[in-house]
Amino acid sequence: MGFLYKSLIKPVFFQMDPETAHSIAVFVLRHMDNSKLAKSFLGLFGNNYSPVSAFGLEFPNPVGLAAGFDKNGQFPSIISKLGFGHVEIGTVTPKPQPGNPGPRLFRIPQEESLVNSLGFNNLGADAMLLNIKKSYPKGKRSSPLGINIGKAKSTNIENAIQDYEYSFKTLAPVADYFTLNISSPNTKNLRQLQKKEHLKPLLQKLNFLKKEWSLKTKSSPIPLLIKISPDESYNELESIVENAVENDISGIIATNTTKYSLSKNQHQFSGGLSGRKLEKKSVETIKFISKLTNGMFPIIGVGGVSDVDSMQRKLDLGACMVQLYTSLIYEGPFMARKLISELKNRNSWNPNGTNISSF
Ligand SMILES: Cc1cc2nc3c(=O)[nH]c(=O)nc-3n(C[C@H](O)[C@H](O)[C@H](O)COP(=O)(O)O)c2cc1C
Repeated sequence: MGFLYKSLIKPVFFQMDPETAHSIAVFVLRHMDNSKLAKSFLGLFGNNYSPVSAFGLEFPNPVGLAAGFDKNGQFPSIISKLGFGHVEIGTVTPKPQPGNPGPRLFRIPQEESLVNSLGFNNLGADAMLLNIKKSYPKGKRSSPLGINIGKAKSTNIENAIQDYEYSFKTLAPVADYFTLNISSPNTKNLRQLQKKEHLKPLLQKLNFLKKEWSLKTKSSPIPLLIKISPDESYNELESIVENAVENDISGIIATNTTKYSLSKNQHQFSGGLSGRKLEKKSVETIKFISKLTNGMFPIIGVGGVSDVDSMQRKLDLGACMVQLYTSLIYEGPFMARKLISELKNRNSWNPNGTNISSF
């Protein structure tokens, strides 16, 4: 299947501007998401290969789709049917916003990497709620749904908590877990939220909301994860992890894209780098956190997962699961299924599944 993508579809897509190609892919996936036939066909392959239990949730396999691909929750069901063990949608902000001006997405084909400066272009939390209720309601899911929430461009850092609060309250009825995005390089000051003085009140507030929601609905608390950047010093990472553990955070997603400048047609573009070129930084971050927490704190490893070796590296260093985005563009939609079957053929993977519990 990957061969078909690489020989027929990818050459056409790669002739187009990257954002246009993405819009076409989204259009097709949205239609497939509405098609019972497409879902039944893909469902035949199943996605239950090497289950993982983490932060109270059961994942059919350890390969998830990273945030940013399905920003509005328009096709999580088809992504799950393509073999992904979880789908993280967003980043969503309370109200719709257009994101940064274009051009804002670039390929670096020789490195199988991308640079983007999209800036959370999305339709807002209320639209996402409607999409999910319609297309991927709780109880009808073949893998967990994570919702990645962030701050709007127009919101000052001092008021950022209000944005996370709004999206949490709006989307709690449909979320299996939440990710607090505090690390995208394309929203001004967002990364400041990783600093102790901002992070502590943010995590305290969200933790309070989580408990309040659980009491109100008599349901298990929704796990909260944080997504961090690969550009932090070890001291900063230590402080982030300390804060996360103190505030009952269920896990860390490591990492977001790294800051990067690209020269194209004599213009300079700044954005976030993803793909193979990010792998080393992401791996170093995972390794440090895993060592710091004696492998006891759930880590979802993201950044440059592009083949079974790069996936294995993250799992060996202490990640309980991985996510990917960029390799989907370079390798095609069957990437999750390919990784899982190759991993399964390796002896080192525990065929009975993995069970990671948080602190
Ligand atoms: C075009 C694009 C858009 C992205 N948008 C988001 C986003 O909205 N929120 C987020 O947390 N991460 C976003 N990311 C980062 C990815 O989720 C992931 O952390 C990063 O790309 C590294 O993984 P990869 O090398 O497998 O792509 C985006 C990445 C790309 C390439």
